Amino acid sequence: MRVDLTGKRVLVTGASRGIGHALARHLHAAGAEVLIHFGRQEQAAVELARTLGERAHPVQMDLSKLDTLSTWFTDLRERFGPIHALVNNAGVAHAVAMEAEEAEWLGLWEHTFQVNVGAVALLCKAFIRHAIADGHAGRIVNIASRAGFRGDTPEYLAYGASKGCCAQPHPQHRPVLW
Ligand SMILES: NC(=O)c1ccc[n+]([C@@H]2O[C@H](COP(=O)([O-])OP(=O)(O)OC[C@H]3O[C@@H](n4cnc5c(N)ncnc54)[C@H](OP(=O)(O)O)[C@@H]3O)[C@@H](O)[C@H]2O)c1
Repeated sequence: MRVDLTGKRVLVTGASRGIGHALARHLHAAGAEVLIHFGRQEQAAVELARTLGERAHPVQMDLSKLDTLSTWFTDLRERFGPIHALVNNAGVAHAVAMEAEEAEWLGLWEHTFQVNVGAVALLCKAFIRHAIADGHAGRIVNIASRAGFRGDTPEYLAYGASKGCCAQPHPQHRPVLW
């Protein structure tokens, strides 16, 4: 099936590596202009944009800085024009042992929820607001995980919980407690 995204501008978070990197490549190949978001891996994002050529732009933001995300999205809209689709792909999966001190344990839970839940929610909110103002329907893709409905190992409880916020339960999967 050939999907034609010519004329569409897509923001892919966490596109400096992994799944987001592949998504950005495929969306670009389908004709989209891609905003290649990265956190710390600037070189990888710049290299991807250089490889893709036209219609590819690296954009940086630390997604744990929740109080900056609405403004950041508005800045992207002003810099590039209407953003027709948002792919919330960026995510973190911190491992922390049950035996860890509470401060460390809670700190990693908080960071996990900032990136995997707070940032996703805020970017969806900003995207919807701009899509309505720009007069297009818009598309949002949130990358979930099986961990959201089957649970995860003790070290990854925060990850499983954070992904549960956007996972759709599947009838063939029963929740599994570790
Ligand atoms: N890999 C799997 O097997 C799997 C399975 C199920 C679901 N998923 C989900 O799929 C998505 C992508 O997974 P992946 O394995 O491809 O991830 P990955 O290779 O670990 O890459 C994570 C991406 O998220 C970005 N990121 C992380 N924290 C950030 C922050 N605070 N601010 C800005 N960017 C941040 C990273 O940017 P920088 O590197 O530039 O900092 C990177 O581009 C995630 O949502 C994950 O939960 C993955």
